[in-house]
Amino acid sequence: MNSARLDRAIDRDTVRRAIELATRAPSIHNTQPWRWLLGERSVHLYADLKRWLPATDADGRDLLLSCGAALHHLRIALAAAGVGAAVHRLPNPGEPDHLAALELSPGRTRDADLRMASAIAIRRTDRRAYQDWPVPEPYLAELTAAAAAQGATLRVITEDRPRNQVLHAIHEAATAQPATPGYDLELALWSARDASPDGVPAANLPTRPSAAVPAARRFRPGELADRGGAPDRSTLLVLGTASDDRLCQLRAGEALSAVLLLATASGLATCPLSQPLEVGHTRRYLRDQVLGGTLCPQVILRLGWAPSRPALPATPRRRAEGVIEPLSR
Ligand SMILES: Cc1cc2nc3c(=O)[nH]c(=O)nc-3n(C[C@H](O)[C@H](O)[C@H](O)COP(=O)(O)O)c2cc1C
Repeated sequence: MNSARLDRAIDRDTVRRAIELATRAPSIHNTQPWRWLLGERSVHLYADLKRWLPATDADGRDLLLSCGAALHHLRIALAAAGVGAAVHRLPNPGEPDHLAALELSPGRTRDADLRMASAIAIRRTDRRAYQDWPVPEPYLAELTAAAAAQGATLRVITEDRPRNQVLHAIHEAATAQPATPGYDLELALWSARDASPDGVPAANLPTRPSAAVPAARRFRPGELADRGGAPDRSTLLVLGTASDDRLCQLRAGEALSAVLLLATASGLATCPLSQPLEVGHTRRYLRDQVLGGTLCPQVILRLGWAPSRPALPATPRRRAEGVIEPLSR
């Protein structure tokens, strides 16, 4: 890159708008556990531990995955706006909440960035039962490649035996987790919330715990009609990483975002499922039985074709003023 391009100013409003778009990222119970510091030519992502769910997410995995998803959303939003970003992950060992520092420079927009950026606004977590059209193999191959490009592995669960094992882990976690003190309270506090800038709104939750989607976390009942008890035909995917440290969890969040955005751009519905990863014995079961001990599972995904109606509303987000601060150092 020549020095004239490097010297070109970075427009702060453009970067601010990119951060606002990044806050559309999915997060555990829509907690939006992030803070952004905006400098002249840099953006810093911090975890907001006040929004951590200690009973649900004792390891902090969901929090890191959520922040990783927001980081990838930001990289896409910046790239689509013609801003390049060199990303330094976990840049300061003395400050563990500082998850990423992005050094900004003038960049070039590629068509693929525009396609992914336009998926940000229309992506939704869809908890309904999916229809029985198969997801074409080339789509699955593209999603697998998208995860690999972010340093993670996406396993498509095709055979009956591992599918039943994943469903068993999901069921087992859903049965065991309510015994964790504080878990039910966190779920109640963050679900079926209306007129709130965070939490999962009633409009995005099924009217009753669905027998059709045995995989579903038991949120408070909402207002979303399901497919009248028709069985769920989703494809199950497990996203994993080589090890289970914080860097891998952050990168798994980036991969989760890449997979969700690409799936959305292809017209597919998605729903992350993290409950079996939050419970120690089901997480180890997934690792050893489903992934053959070769990969650390980070999150499960349901993927497929949702009913076209009703269209799901967007879940709310906190106002930019509450999450973006100027960098004062
Ligand atoms: C790490 C992570 C774990 C999640 N786990 C679940 C889950 O177990 N069940 C579920 O229905 N949704 C889950 N979600 C989806 C969130 O509830 C959803 O992203 C949030 O409510 C915002 O809604 P949106 O994705 O439609 O924007 C998870 C999301 C993330 C990022």
